[in-house]
Amino acid sequence: MKNLIVANWKMNPASQEEAKELFNEVKKGVKDIKAEVVVCPPFVYVSQLEGITLGAQDVFHKEKGAFTGEVSPHMLKDLGVEYVIIGHSERRKYFSENDELINKKMAAVLEAGLKPIFCVGEAEGEDKSTVLEKQITQGLKGLAAGEFNHITVAYEPVWAIGTGKNCSPDETMQALLLIRKIVTNLYSRETAEKIRIIYGGSVKAENASVYVQEAGAQGLLVGGASLVASEFVEIVKSAGM
Ligand code: PGA
Repeated sequence: MKNLIVANWKMNPASQEEAKELFNEVKKGVKDIKAEVVVCPPFVYVSQLEGITLGAQDVFHKEKGAFTGEVSPHMLKDLGVEYVIIGHSERRKYFSENDELINKKMAAVLEAGLKPIFCVGEAEGEDKSTVLEKQITQGLKGLAAGEFNHITVAYEPVWAIGTGKNCSPDETMQALLLIRKIVTNLYSRETAEKIRIIYGGSVKAENASVYVQEAGAQGLLVGGASLVASEFVEIVKSAGM
């Protein structure tokens, strides 16, 4: 399984020109890289970018209909999107997404043949194992074990996102092992081995390799640092073995 390095642009950049420029610079820089690189731009830019695997930052779980403002898994698939970030902490926090809705999105995305990047993680002061147990149990509920090779779980401690407060390699390793254990208990060891588990939260070029090489992450989810092409390319190079 290749490492997966994901750029989450969030609500950036501000114009089509900037989006194309950033994308093209990244494309040039990651040309000969072994890792799987995915860029997740805002929906409006998706159809204008090609040459790197594309992901979406969110999706709605219905196929079509009267759901003003929403985008379906099939619409994304039709545009050539391969991955979808689901349950990002900013969606949970600012858009009141709960575990039940996230679970519906997981099922809909897999059903459409897309690959979910399922975000989990505790906020400051919360008990890590209680939160991970609940988010994973409810988020993966009812999903067929046969689909698990398409699922990536992103461990993103909320307190480390956009703050510059890094999760230590040791704490990250413990969290990744815990996630694998929770999935093993819910399904089986064989099923749990199929999922890819990555880390996100203040990843920069200077710390990227630590998460992959020391903590055992099978990739990275990168927010702020993915908006500077040279920095993101460095991250991919140092973590992409
Ligand atoms: P950050 O964001 O790299 O800016 O901390 C990560 C994320 O939100 O996925």
